[in-house]
Amino acid sequence: MKASLCTRYGGADALEVCQTARPARQPGELLIRVHASSINPVDWKILRGDLRILFGRRPPPILGGDFAGVVLEADTSSRFQPGDRVWGLTEIRRLRHTPGAHAEVTRCASELVDAMPARLSFEEAASVPLVGLTAYQSLVHHAQLQPGQRVLVNGCSGGVGLIAVQLAKALGASVVGVCSGANRSAALQAGCDEVIDYQERNPLDEDLKVDVWFDVVGNQSLGAVRHQLAPAGCYLNIVKLISTSVSSWFNPIRSQKSHAVFVAPSASDLAHLRELIQQGDLHPVIERIYPLDQIAAAYERSRSQRTVGKLVISMTD
Ligand SMILES: NC(=O)c1ccc[n+]([C@@H]2O[C@H](COP(=O)([O-])OP(=O)(O)OC[C@H]3O[C@@H](n4cnc5c(N)ncnc54)[C@H](OP(=O)(O)O)[C@@H]3O)[C@@H](O)[C@H]2O)c1
Repeated sequence: MKASLCTRYGGADALEVCQTARPARQPGELLIRVHASSINPVDWKILRGDLRILFGRRPPPILGGDFAGVVLEADTSSRFQPGDRVWGLTEIRRLRHTPGAHAEVTRCASELVDAMPARLSFEEAASVPLVGLTAYQSLVHHAQLQPGQRVLVNGCSGGVGLIAVQLAKALGASVVGVCSGANRSAALQAGCDEVIDYQERNPLDEDLKVDVWFDVVGNQSLGAVRHQLAPAGCYLNIVKLISTSVSSWFNPIRSQKSHAVFVAPSASDLAHLRELIQQGDLHPVIERIYPLDQIAAAYERSRSQRTVGKLVISMTD
């Protein structure tokens, strides 16, 4: 199969697209023909060596969390059969031993996989799992966002941000988005009721009073946003996980919560996202689709951290 191999820690030049052995399916897993995957910042962070503590002296051979594709092999007792269209998120911590989805074929525990939303193309479906699960687990499981509440999404124009805005609106909340002025229209199109251009206004200086502050950029903290939060408000950070966890232990105002969120693969959460997509409440936003041969260019674009929506890798181009 063709795959993007990590030859060493480094930048996008450490990737090599070449032929490699197809993975062998283990019991309980699906073997999946990947039609499309996507790039997430965690891919270039792993390649850069940020998670050496987890992966050791060499990066995992094949990166890539998101996949949308077709089942090639399954256990006879599996709820999936060869030919089924599926989507999912591979387990990042297992990447050393289980190949990721930047390849024509991957394998994944059947229990983590969901049926792909029927109305999406493979490219659209592959743009959703990691960012969609992050937004869903943050806003639904951690913040328990309720209809009528007000949420701020700091970094609302990127992969996580644009789907978080749509999800918050679908849950009946009103949304304040923070992004650069250039991406104001994308934020409004996703459903923001108000957009703050952080180059012109500092959201910390505004009078916002939100119930949930979803910090996708990671440049804030509960202490910094506390005066903008409702008395029982919730601050979520998905970037500075250690400092956010530590500050939540020493939080003097216990009614206001702070959570560090690390996304987990989940078939049941994916099924909720699938329903929202089928109802027309969530729409994937794709900045560009790259063929696998051009994956290095997609990594470079993601590293700029200026992406609007998602960067998708097509395995069939
Ligand atoms: N913990 C987890 O499980 C988890 C899961 C997913 C992602 N993440 C992390 O979350 C971060 C965002 O991921 P992503 O996929 O959304 O990245 P992305 O697609 O690269 O989006 C980054 C966005 O950040 C915005 N931004 C940059 N500086 C900003 C600022 N000062 N204020 C407001 N917005 C700013 C950019 O918008 P402008 O161009 O308009 O500035 C851009 O749209 C990454 O660090 C990623 O590793 C963590």
